[in-house]
Amino acid sequence: MATPILDCRDVSKAFGAVRAVDTVSLTVYAGEVLGLVGPNGAGKTTLVDLIGGEQRPDTGTIHAAGRPLTGAPSRRARLNGLARTFQHPQVALDMTVRENMIVGLVARSMGSLGGMLRQLVRGMAGAGDPGLDLEVDRVAAALGLEAIDRSCMELTLGELRLLEVGRALLMKPALMLLDEPFAGSDARGVSGIRSAIAEILKSGCGVILVDHNVDIVASLAHRIALLNLGAKVFDGSPGECLASPEMQSVYFGSDDGQAGGAE
Ligand SMILES: Nc1ncnc2c1ncn2[C@@H]1O[C@H](COP(=O)(O)OP(=O)(O)O)[C@@H](O)[C@H]1O
Ligand SMILES: [Mg+2]
Repeated sequence: MATPILDCRDVSKAFGAVRAVDTVSLTVYAGEVLGLVGPNGAGKTTLVDLIGGEQRPDTGTIHAAGRPLTGAPSRRARLNGLARTFQHPQVALDMTVRENMIVGLVARSMGSLGGMLRQLVRGMAGAGDPGLDLEVDRVAAALGLEAIDRSCMELTLGELRLLEVGRALLMKPALMLLDEPFAGSDARGVSGIRSAIAEILKSGCGVILVDHNVDIVASLAHRIALLNLGAKVFDGSPGECLASPEMQSVYFGSDDGQAGGAE
């Protein structure tokens, strides 16, 4: 059997008394979209932060392509082929769309998005490397991002999300972590993210798609993991997940008193 791109085993993270992620195990294979759903506060972002190296798990192990990632900083996660977008987009607003995307190319080999890197990117963009520009143009066009030499201050939230996806795509990752990529997007943004996921899958990359909206995730994912109160309570096909008593309980509240309450 193929090695999963991502293998999390019994991963936990607490913040004080809150068990944000509670003994979660999951795998993602190449070319697979794993939907990660659950109501607000279920632990989705914390789990993505643990995988991406922004947070360290208290216990458990995380392997990417068979190599241990547990406790590694986000730089190591990137070098091991993980790229991500953030629930609150992390974009340098004082730079252009193109400059922000070139950061993705530079981040293939470097870790920090600090001031020095910004200078470097400005230098590279200024030098007008045609190879880089072409690659950025191709990805931007695939996502429907237009006029990419404008400042990011002019972008809608939906466009900022597309930019983050584009930057992550340029890193040529093995696994892409998309945290709430549809939130705040209009119809154009949503269709751009859909095209982006198709584009990501073409390269054989795996995807973790996080959203509290189960219907949109079910329309794109091959498999869905449902989190509630930090624990994984279901893992299966979208059809099985939507029909499961766990989904009914978590999202619609049934008589077992465990309902988390959807947004
Ligand atoms: N940095 C933090 N400090 C304290 N509590 C946190 C922190 N991050 C998340 N939490 C708590 O952990 C739980 C899971 O949060 P989160 O992972 O953001 O959930 P989701 O992304 O599913 O909405 C929530 O109860 C949240 O308040
Ligand atoms: Mg979240």
